[in-house]
Amino acid sequence: MQALEQKILTEGIVLSDNVLKVDAFLNHQIDPVLMQQIGKEFAARFKDQGITKIITIEASGIAPAVMAGLELGVPVIFARKYQSLTLKDDLYRSKVYSFTKQTESTIAISNKHIHSSDHVLIIDDFLANGQAALGLADLIHQANANIVGIGIVIEKSFQTGRDLLIEKGYRVESLARIQSLNDGKVTFIQA
Ligand code: G4P
Repeated sequence: MQALEQKILTEGIVLSDNVLKVDAFLNHQIDPVLMQQIGKEFAARFKDQGITKIITIEASGIAPAVMAGLELGVPVIFARKYQSLTLKDDLYRSKVYSFTKQTESTIAISNKHIHSSDHVLIIDDFLANGQAALGLADLIHQANANIVGIGIVIEKSFQTGRDLLIEKGYRVESLARIQSLNDGKVTFIQA
């Protein structure tokens, strides 16, 4: 997606060979116009798939997921990473290990919002090692719902996530695919 790649080139900051900072438009400050374009792009790629729900994970997955939900006309559920005061019973839970942060967290969604008849699109901001997406997929499997695919805003293609998800049979659509962050420079895999 050209507008996204351009934004990454102009406002992204390469922090190391592995980490790209996008606080200017995705992870902290959010660019609503770009998010709307992202929502439209996800909707175009997954239209005609009978999607009934979008599932993402707090916090940074929420903005692109909501925009995609608006375009597709379906509700958006975000998995919680922290204990909620009101979300207590009847939860689907999964453990997610972050190689980037070297922390394990439990993610959860209420079983009220997802059913076996649902066709679910998973959306997240980053794909690194694929553990967040696998955790979300696990929650959806617990509900016996169908996973239509996985939509990613920024994929770091030099890490293991994409291959892992493809190996498991998921359709992965990433709007920007980063080939390398070496030498402080972002290079993309062209579609
Ligand atoms: P994985 O799910 O693909 O295995 O990724 P990983 O555990 O490595 O990443 C965990 C967290 O780190 C996620 O955010 C993810 O978005 C973020 N992350 C991974 N690589 C990068 C990167 O290059 N740049 C930035 N900015 N973030 C990265 P999170 O902990 O869920 O935080 P948030 O959603 O609350 O922002």
